[in-house]
Amino acid sequence: MAASSISRLIEDLAADIRSGKLPPGSPLPTHRQLATQHGIAIASASKVYTRLKAIGLVVGETGRGTFVRDRPQQHEWDGGDEARRSTHAADLSFNHPTWPGQGDMLRTMLRELSLSGDLAALLHQQPPGGREHEKQIVADFLANARGIRTETDRLFLVNGAQQGLDITARALLSPGDTVAVDALTYPGFKMLAQAQHLALQPVHSLTDGPDLDALATLCQRKRVRAIYVMPTMHNPLGWVLTAGQRQHLVDIARHYDCLLIEDASYAYLVKQSPPALVTLAPERTVYIASLSKSLASGLRFGFIVTPEKYRLPIKATIRANYWSLPSLITAIGTRWIADGTVARQENRMRQEASKRQAIARQALCGMDVIAHPSSLFLWLRLPPELRMDRIATALADHNIAVSKATAYSTTRHSPHALRLGLSSVPREELFSVLTQVRSLIEHFPI
Ligand SMILES: Cc1ncc(COP(=O)(O)O)c(C=O)c1O
Repeated sequence: MAASSISRLIEDLAADIRSGKLPPGSPLPTHRQLATQHGIAIASASKVYTRLKAIGLVVGETGRGTFVRDRPQQHEWDGGDEARRSTHAADLSFNHPTWPGQGDMLRTMLRELSLSGDLAALLHQQPPGGREHEKQIVADFLANARGIRTETDRLFLVNGAQQGLDITARALLSPGDTVAVDALTYPGFKMLAQAQHLALQPVHSLTDGPDLDALATLCQRKRVRAIYVMPTMHNPLGWVLTAGQRQHLVDIARHYDCLLIEDASYAYLVKQSPPALVTLAPERTVYIASLSKSLASGLRFGFIVTPEKYRLPIKATIRANYWSLPSLITAIGTRWIADGTVARQENRMRQEASKRQAIARQALCGMDVIAHPSSLFLWLRLPPELRMDRIATALADHNIAVSKATAYSTTRHSPHALRLGLSSVPREELFSVLTQVRSLIEHFPI
């Protein structure tokens, strides 16, 4: 078969997958069957699948065959048009940890679980916030990997860090309360604040963290009930606060009696960081993290550590809200923690993030980028004459999904910038995708 006909076969299959005619998970013919159906050599059939795999449309599993890939579709920050248009995009809008062997890892775990002694226990309701022996596994992990010591009765398992934030705000804040946030902050916190009618007060950012003098002035002027912070690997700017900045922040929180909500979702990416706020001010800090950014965003396994005085309101809110995580999920998550998979994966992701940042620095060299060298995202400031929505729409037309600064901004005037997540696109494709972003921006008609 001529090379052009093989290309056509690739295009036809790709079109069927993209249109949904071949839905996610569909088994595809074996190499031999494909060869027979189209009168091509088996080597050519293998080439077809290799190409479809390279562009992320199929997955092949040794001994099991080839399947249409179930692509993550997660573009919720910006909603609207880009989301619709970029269903099949190179996804720079959301960080899914993806690596070869993920499927096998889950298969092995499910097999292990299916052989475990008391499987029926996984069909039983858990106490609010988790089962004791599983919380102990998380507590040991926090002590060993993060230097955070907690008793299990102050630790709760939640459906990802997002729910941890939501439960914390529901339990400890009231509609109308003022919460200090960074001028650029995690969009999920903005969303929950809006849903819970919290009043967000932006704190101006300096290059290496929030302007703490501005925060102190704000607290002096206004009753600030809580401060939402990401001291280690801020999303989106990647800063890591120094020990001095952390102490200053804690001093302000103590002086003005503010709750500290410490979001450590990406903190694992920094191997040696100054102590978590929860260790400096355990009496007023709720610490929140998950396995979403290191292991699997779809597992929905997160945890919160609360001060003793907030234990009961948080537990009551969990009971009223979701009662407990599914036992199957906590069994999987805690087994992966206990057998060292999570620690190994965190290590691997730290190395992966550094490699991806190096690729990004090369691809975007000379552009106005802010990023931590081991972060999974970067902040790309656009030249003043370019508007971020037009750039984001044009990128969506090229099947590249990005997040706009508006999703992160808590001030009235958002900067013109894009946040690019680096972990969802296969590493081999990252340079080329980022080069396309660069080229589109550089040649954008003004
Ligand atoms: C800073 C930050 N906090 C919390 C979350 C929510 O994470 P999870 O998937 O664990 O709910 C995210 C997810 O993007 C995040 O970036």
